[in-house]
Amino acid sequence: MTDTCVDRIDDAERVPPATDAAPAASAQTDGDRGHLAEEETVAAGLGPEACAEPDPWRAHRVAAGPFDAAERAAVYRAIETRRDVRGQFEPAPIDDAVLRRLLAAAHAAPSVGFMQPWSFIRITDPGVKDRVHAAFSAANAEAEAMFSGAHQDRYRSLKLEGIREAPVSLCVTCDPTRSGPVVLGRTHQSEMDLYSTVCAVQNLWLAARAEGIGVGWVSIFREADVKAILGIPDHVRIVAWLCLGHVKTLYDAPELAIKGWRQRLPLEELVSDNGWGGETALFVEQTRE
Ligand SMILES: Cc1cc2nc3c(=O)[nH]c(=O)nc-3n(C[C@H](O)[C@H](O)[C@H](O)COP(=O)(O)O)c2cc1C
Repeated sequence: MTDTCVDRIDDAERVPPATDAAPAASAQTDGDRGHLAEEETVAAGLGPEACAEPDPWRAHRVAAGPFDAAERAAVYRAIETRRDVRGQFEPAPIDDAVLRRLLAAAHAAPSVGFMQPWSFIRITDPGVKDRVHAAFSAANAEAEAMFSGAHQDRYRSLKLEGIREAPVSLCVTCDPTRSGPVVLGRTHQSEMDLYSTVCAVQNLWLAARAEGIGVGWVSIFREADVKAILGIPDHVRIVAWLCLGHVKTLYDAPELAIKGWRQRLPLEELVSDNGWGGETALFVEQTRE
């Protein structure tokens, strides 16, 4: 190897290879989590000419080009075909290895100040599920009363949870104290811990789609009720109750859209350029793509 910035890094400093927890991304280049090959260090601007102010952490750099077409398609397929599942759960349990992969995907999520505020409570006990279902039913009756007329009738017709049918549920929590009183990035917007936890949920949801596991997010309950059932400390928040199970079919669009509750908004109406509420030129060329 020539005298590039990279070749002066002792191999021992490099990050260890991928574990078998999840398939390694094939777009990466050297079988070692994508650490750059010699010619790539130059192409990536890490060659000798870049050494005036060398990055002391450069041994951790990996190739970051686009995935190949099949990999990209798989990622977008997971995003586009992910569904919130309430009624299609198969009773078969989820393999522990699969559940561990889903949790690892969740745990790989971004978090403010890397605080990783999430915890995951696994629920398989039918008695616990029954009690949470009762908490749902009480809240759902209150929710139903908040709508009126035809909207209320439609609300009543919707299935909004699969708590008892799903073989396993995960209660995803957020501990605001996880990394001490002052958290990098959360100094001015304390709710960032909750947003971080939501990122973990979304990671899990997408990974589950790839594994053929359906996920349904249930939020219709009083948080205090479920905290009492699971013994969750006062300061810890519940972010999500997720019902998980194998699914053989999924709806091809959000169930709420199919059943006439609400339709997807046009994306173009949700994007503006350089300020709130204006228009965007972003989609003008779209018809030519
Ligand atoms: C924060 C959050 C809470 C939700 N709570 C519920 C719920 O209590 N019951 C339910 O049936 N769906 C719930 N959902 C699922 C949404 O209804 C669903 O994501 C939406 O209708 C779009 O459908 P899709 O996820 O299949 O694309 C929730 C989703 C999110 C993100």
